[in-house]
Amino acid sequence: MPTFPNIIKSKLPKAGTTIFTIMSALANKHKAINLAQGFPDFACDSELVKLVNEAMKKGHNQYAPMPGYMPLREAIAEKNFDLYSAQYNPDTEITIMPGGTLAINATILALIHEGDEVIVIEPCYDSYVPSIIMAGGIPVYATMKTPGYQVDWNELKKLVNQHTRMIIINSPNNPTGQVISSSDMQKLEKLVAGTDIIVLSDEVYEHIIFDGFEHQSVSRFPKLAERSVIISSFGKTFHTTGWKIGYCLAPANLMVEIRKVYQFMVFSVHTPTQYAITEYIKNKDAYLQLGAFYQKKRDHFSILMESSRFKLLPCSGSYFQCAIYDKISDEGDRDFASRITEEIGVASIPISAFYHKGVDNKVLRFCFAKKEETLEKAAEKLSSL
Ligand SMILES: Cc1ncc(COP(=O)(O)O)c(C=O)c1O
Repeated sequence: MPTFPNIIKSKLPKAGTTIFTIMSALANKHKAINLAQGFPDFACDSELVKLVNEAMKKGHNQYAPMPGYMPLREAIAEKNFDLYSAQYNPDTEITIMPGGTLAINATILALIHEGDEVIVIEPCYDSYVPSIIMAGGIPVYATMKTPGYQVDWNELKKLVNQHTRMIIINSPNNPTGQVISSSDMQKLEKLVAGTDIIVLSDEVYEHIIFDGFEHQSVSRFPKLAERSVIISSFGKTFHTTGWKIGYCLAPANLMVEIRKVYQFMVFSVHTPTQYAITEYIKNKDAYLQLGAFYQKKRDHFSILMESSRFKLLPCSGSYFQCAIYDKISDEGDRDFASRITEEIGVASIPISAFYHKGVDNKVLRFCFAKKEETLEKAAEKLSSL
């Protein structure tokens, strides 16, 4: 193609290809076991596939209403009330969206203006900062304390000023596997009291929580819920990351703005999938048993890795296990992750990718949303290092 005169001014000049794409491509190239990107290598429930097929055959193949199929919104309202005693109005406070990433993006584009500051807590999921920049906002970075990856609320408080418009939290956390406690939430509640700060609470792993911990949704805390937007993802909950469907909960005055933006980004979500999930979600075990299901996988992987020289960090939720490799190598984490993908055939994600300045504590993230045999083969290879 002849090149168009270069008049393009990038909206995201610093953004390259995401680390997930890079590591998955490297995994494919070297036929490595992919514990990098966060998706299951096992099938979702065939019942769910059947329900989508049935919805298609019944002719539910045209646009859904912009905020989502009402019975699905009603089912989400009921679920949220049962779990967290929070009442969201399905008409005005719940919107079905094509996945968590889009819901985060639409929320930030709708609520953040030029020059607004948004506090993100690193290491963090990689879509937050580009979304803030696209909205003209300014990311401000808090850092979790290491080891242990706990939020330091005193440090975070020092970052708050009159320009702070939003704080983004994520529990259970990707990439650290840490969860926020109710005492954390009380500290956050105190910190934002009397300000006009909105909380964006990324709860896509809400059901993947272990060892008796209870998910502390912001919706459990009325004083936080009134200023919060919650993001959830059916991709994570029902093992269907490729279907890109999730939802957003927010008080009506915030949701009205989010919908104004969202309707011109996507308008509405794949209709048959919404019909299918409306039926499927009636089976509460499908999400209530998810913690136990993944805890077994976490424990299996952790026992297998005892014969390796990796030091596994505590993991209380999500499907990510972090591990320190300083007994194996002093290479930087990107180099080490690439080398072990090529040489021993296991792909992971270097944690420095989740920090804007690439902080490197020699930690890799392994996704354990995999079949037992996949975890066994991977652990055997990792133990050879
Ligand atoms: C913390 C976090 N938030 C949001 C998402 C996006 O979810 P979805 O696949 O539904 O867009 C992910 C996916 O990996 C995630 O890890």
